[in-house]
Amino acid sequence: MRLEIKDFCLSYQNKEIIKNASLSVDSGEVSVLIGPSGSGKSLLALGICGYVPDNLRKMRGEVLLKNEVLENTESARTNFAKKSLSIIMQNPKTCFNPLFSIKSHYAETLQALGMRADLAFMESSLQEVGLEKEVLDLYPFELSGGMLQRVMIVLALAANPLFLIADEITTDLDLLTQYKILEILKKVRKKRNLGILFITHDLEVAAHLADKIYILKNGKVTQYSDFPLSANKLALIFKQGA
Ligand SMILES: Nc1ncnc2c1ncn2[C@@H]1O[C@H](COP(=O)(O)OP(=O)(O)OP(=O)(O)O)[C@@H](O)[C@H]1O
Ligand SMILES: [Mg+2]
Repeated sequence: MRLEIKDFCLSYQNKEIIKNASLSVDSGEVSVLIGPSGSGKSLLALGICGYVPDNLRKMRGEVLLKNEVLENTESARTNFAKKSLSIIMQNPKTCFNPLFSIKSHYAETLQALGMRADLAFMESSLQEVGLEKEVLDLYPFELSGGMLQRVMIVLALAANPLFLIADEITTDLDLLTQYKILEILKKVRKKRNLGILFITHDLEVAAHLADKIYILKNGKVTQYSDFPLSANKLALIFKQGA
């Protein structure tokens, strides 16, 4: 199965921020998207899920999932709710409300997905990412950045999506925690045959994880295909601008 983005184009006040971006992700595989800060990676990730900010315009482009075209942002959101596509954003600390426990956040997510807030389900899904069930009773400020990011993974996987977009999910974490999060992602990808679009600045991580690599620079997406992949080769291309 394939998630495919064709000729996606976003503009701001008549200036194209993303020009004809095309890329794909296959089930059970990791496509990595790299690009300099401000190149539009997060906007593209949000656009794929149908969340184009109100002041930007999607000019062209299609997102196909299971060969079905998501014609506009509204149907993309419907599809989002239909649980096929999920996204994790960069900074988990900004995604949680300090007044609510992890259990409340989880229950709210399940409700939004039309699922029952079943305690046994919540507890067992935490195990998949190496968290104890007691975490449910804690508040976000009682968890480390790595633990919060694991909770984000659990919430993103709650509806058993086919595809996951991970936008710089390891950027704010120390090296050991980054490694642990990547290992968790690899494990769930294998277990669930999940297709992952992994967005990162880190060329080592990109070379290590990727089945396919895309570079976003000056609004254009180019597929990188110089196998075997290495961080050094990528750095060169990255500098030159593919
Ligand atoms: N709502 C918006 N309105 C206008 N411009 C925006 C909006 N959101 C983002 N931008 C601009 O679009 C460009 C791309 O932003 P985006 O956040 O997608 O970059 P990024 O590649 O994810 O960067 P980083 O690696 O730092 O996360 C930036 O120049 C940013 O200032
Ligand atoms: Mg970003």
